[in-house]
Amino acid sequence: MNQTTTPVSVSKLLQDLENHIQGFQYGNFPIELYEPISYIMSLGGKRIRPLLTLMAYSLYKEDYSSILTPASAVEVFHNFTLMHDDIMDDAPLRRGKATVHEKWNANTAILSGDVMLVKAYEMLVNVSPEKLPEALRLFNQTAAEVCEGQQHDMNFEKIETVLEEDYIDMIRQKTAVLLGFALQFGAILADAPREEAQKLYDFGVNIGIGFQLKDDLLDVYADQAKFGKQVGGDIIANKKTFLLIKAKELAQGELKNQLEDWLAKVDFDKQEKVKAVTSIYNQIGIKALTEAKMHDYFKKGFDQFNSLDVPIKSSFSALLELTEDLVHREK
Ligand code: IPE
Ligand code: IPE
Ligand code: MG
Ligand code: MG
Ligand code: MG
Repeated sequence: MNQTTTPVSVSKLLQDLENHIQGFQYGNFPIELYEPISYIMSLGGKRIRPLLTLMAYSLYKEDYSSILTPASAVEVFHNFTLMHDDIMDDAPLRRGKATVHEKWNANTAILSGDVMLVKAYEMLVNVSPEKLPEALRLFNQTAAEVCEGQQHDMNFEKIETVLEEDYIDMIRQKTAVLLGFALQFGAILADAPREEAQKLYDFGVNIGIGFQLKDDLLDVYADQAKFGKQVGGDIIANKKTFLLIKAKELAQGELKNQLEDWLAKVDFDKQEKVKAVTSIYNQIGIKALTEAKMHDYFKKGFDQFNSLDVPIKSSFSALLELTEDLVHREK
């Protein structure tokens, strides 16, 4: 392989991926089971995980079209977790539209989500037979970790004090390992050397932690129209995000009392709580602190990525650009 290869275009790749995802037959009958799947899968979203799979593959091989189905499995799995996550988080909005449990009901979101997990497996197994055992082993490991992270996330809502290291480990599981898997999976499908696939996994986990820190920031500071999710949802639910953990650590005197009061309230006006807690964050400089932590993880990831020596250099630059953009995302 050499530099005479045609450079991969991320926008072309995204278009091919989108066509593939929209063309997949998830099922028709009963309509109540399948309609929510078409709904959530057609609402857009960044498609970052399957893009990572396709780009990691493209670091080593050119014919990414051959892995569009297994790459899409990662997106279907992600959307399944979102459908259930929105029930758990009592979230009204997803990608600018009503969440599935709001538009239909929770039972529908549970069952449609369940069958999406099955569909994700159906797509994932479309790999060459010698790669299947490893693909399944890694995917199963990742999927179980996502559920473990999600359970910790819910447990932490009810615990008063969560340590920073426990929070980082929780987001590593609920979010970061899937980005790691997405990259590693692409590399494995392209027959990349073992250590490189592992480095890509580690890179994915570190930028994945940065990605969730950014998500936590956006949950407080985003423009809701761009973000497409309810701003303030984490504050309403007492989610132990990095922002809240640091605020609890750093707030003093009257500010500390105010914060503790809001966290203890059972009956409150949601908008009032969001406004009050955001104001406390602002007075302690929580945004800058969280950004600094996010940058640490992205940097750690990019250092690992830069230590790779891959055959297709143009894909290396494209993947770097794609992931660097995640630092500045507004949705
Ligand atoms: C949302 O994921 C859930 C998190 C892990 C933060 P994304 O931010 O990738 O959401 P979409 O798929 O682009 O909508
Ligand atoms: C959830 O994190 C990550 C998942 C595994 C779905 P969040 O609950 O913060 O994700 P959003 O903000 O609802 O997308
Ligand atoms: Mg959640
Ligand atoms: Mg959520
Ligand atoms: Mg969030």
